[in-house]
Amino acid sequence: MSIVESLSPRSLRAPESGIVEVVNYAREREGLIPLWVGEGDLPTPEFIARAASDALLKGETFYTWQRGIPELRAALSRYYARRFGAALPAEHFYVVGSGMQAIKLAVEALVSPGDDMVYLTPAWPNFAAAAELSGANPIAVQLDFSGGRWQIDLDRVEAAITPKTRALFINTPSNPTGWTATREDLASLLAIARRHDLWIMADEIYALYHYAGGRAPSFLDVMEDGDRVIFVNSFSKNWSMTGWRVGWIVAPPEMGQVLENLIQYSTSGVPQFLQRGAVAALDEGDAFVQANIDKAAKNRDVFCDALIATNRVETLKPDGALYAFLKIDGVTDSRKAALDIVDSTGVGLAPGTAFGPGGELFMRACFLRDPKEVAEAADRLSRYIAAR
Ligand SMILES: Cc1ncc(COP(=O)(O)O)c(C=O)c1O
Repeated sequence: MSIVESLSPRSLRAPESGIVEVVNYAREREGLIPLWVGEGDLPTPEFIARAASDALLKGETFYTWQRGIPELRAALSRYYARRFGAALPAEHFYVVGSGMQAIKLAVEALVSPGDDMVYLTPAWPNFAAAAELSGANPIAVQLDFSGGRWQIDLDRVEAAITPKTRALFINTPSNPTGWTATREDLASLLAIARRHDLWIMADEIYALYHYAGGRAPSFLDVMEDGDRVIFVNSFSKNWSMTGWRVGWIVAPPEMGQVLENLIQYSTSGVPQFLQRGAVAALDEGDAFVQANIDKAAKNRDVFCDALIATNRVETLKPDGALYAFLKIDGVTDSRKAALDIVDSTGVGLAPGTAFGPGGELFMRACFLRDPKEVAEAADRLSRYIAAR
């Protein structure tokens, strides 16, 4: 038996990332404009880095609270009051090692081997992979795409539910489509979950990147006490902290001991000095977050307007999140197209094949970068598309 054959079937079910394949192919290219991964180009602001480095140098290097330091859980509670108008005491919050780990732990807490987890596609591939790693079945329900817009078909969601379904995973605003649930969509999804006794796993990591103004609608706007909703979230995108690997979960306090145990047996807690930086981000970071949002909004216009003007790209500007999801005329294999585009133009895009059913013909571009670079990428891509 080979080494690989001797590994657990569950570990072998974890798919390779279709985004990383293209990144590895061309990451060292000269003149590259990398729009393939979901992060901005700015490093973490100094006031956040300083809070963490001061704590590190002061010796905050010991084991810490499994659920997160009390100061950070209190800061999260204040943040939700300010941004979401939600009265959530600190015991609703659990600090974890990234949004990805939040997803992993939520799945572990709610879904058993053999259960179904319904999610909407095209989707960031990691939701389905987390379910598969837990032995569960991710059940894809496609969003509809017409006239450049993405929309949810609520009947299709309900039709996908079986006695094995335990949870609906809803990411809004969505990576990669930018689809953003309306308040009515969220109320309907919650009604479906109540009818079928399901959990909702809500990934609202991009809630503040909402281009109609204000934040995107949230399950917090429609839910009531006792509803089974767990939120996964992250410091990565709002505060330019992708490399920190710090995130959080919002969950009913009754789950507290179970989540604490799951944290104990994975990372045993997030480094305390990083949590000090996270407190600074929440308490002092509103202006920085607003600058990121303004930059994303302007870049979205520049990038999407240029590509729409080619008349060869089917897309509308996304309502939320950080991505243009482009259907380019004549592209029948987005993996091949991503390799060709980076070879021909030096613009790095993520192939839609990475995002599951319904995404195969699309290309994803993250526009939270230097406006000059984004304009240059739009120009290079428009010329490439015009010449095809
Ligand atoms: C929708 C969504 N959820 C979660 C994450 C995970 O964020 P992180 O693990 O960087 O905190 C991402 C990252 O791209 C994302 O797009």
